[in-house]
Amino acid sequence: MTRVELRTDVDGLVDELADVDRETFSAPGYDGDPDDIARFRDEQLLKHAPRKGFRIATAHDDGLLVGFAYGYTGEVGQWWTDRMLRLAPPDVHAWLGGHFEFVEIALRPRWQGKGIGSAMHDCLLAGLPHDRAMLTTWQDETRPARVLYQRKGWRPLADVEDSTVMGLRLPVPG
Ligand SMILES: CC(C)(COP(=O)(O)OP(=O)(O)OC[C@H]1O[C@@H](n2cnc3c(N)ncnc32)[C@H](O)[C@@H]1OP(=O)(O)O)[C@@H](O)C(=O)NCCC(=O)NCCS
Repeated sequence: MTRVELRTDVDGLVDELADVDRETFSAPGYDGDPDDIARFRDEQLLKHAPRKGFRIATAHDDGLLVGFAYGYTGEVGQWWTDRMLRLAPPDVHAWLGGHFEFVEIALRPRWQGKGIGSAMHDCLLAGLPHDRAMLTTWQDETRPARVLYQRKGWRPLADVEDSTVMGLRLPVPG
């Protein structure tokens, strides 16, 4: 049975997370290359994990890490937020800074299509103090990730270069 849970650190998980990312994005249609994989571990995950608001939803099946989704509080001065301020149209700017940045979701191919991605998405966003979340994804609306985001209420805000920026209003915790 697959167990999805939320944590606020990646202690002892970095190599497994990198392996999930490698397997997910090496699958046909995703074109991951070895440099992307090293970049994920060293320049992305280890840089992001100490950030304010960092949290990660993990999915384990019989002790094996099969998927994850993570994000943190996006701030002006960070690479993605500054890039969006530079490249996205002005109506997107009001979303930026203090948003929850949904950075990555990945699931080993054999576990896809069984509702685990949906469960990780919901686990990651549950109870957040932020009033909005943002992400960038493929422009292709037939991609499983785009379908998942649309089902969850994300809406496209703008196309920026080869990606679509999406936003989601979050319920304010009562
Ligand atoms: C995106 C991803 C995490 C989705 O996880 P998943 O467990 O396969 O998705 P789920 O089974 O929870 O399905 C979620 C929704 O997407 C839809 N979906 C899932 N796979 C699909 C596919 N191959 N084609 C079209 N829709 C699909 C489902 O129908 C479901 O909608 P529904 O609840 O209305 O039926 C997974 O496919 C993945 O890791 N993909 C590769 C990595 C990736 O693209 N990451 C995002 C980068 S922006």
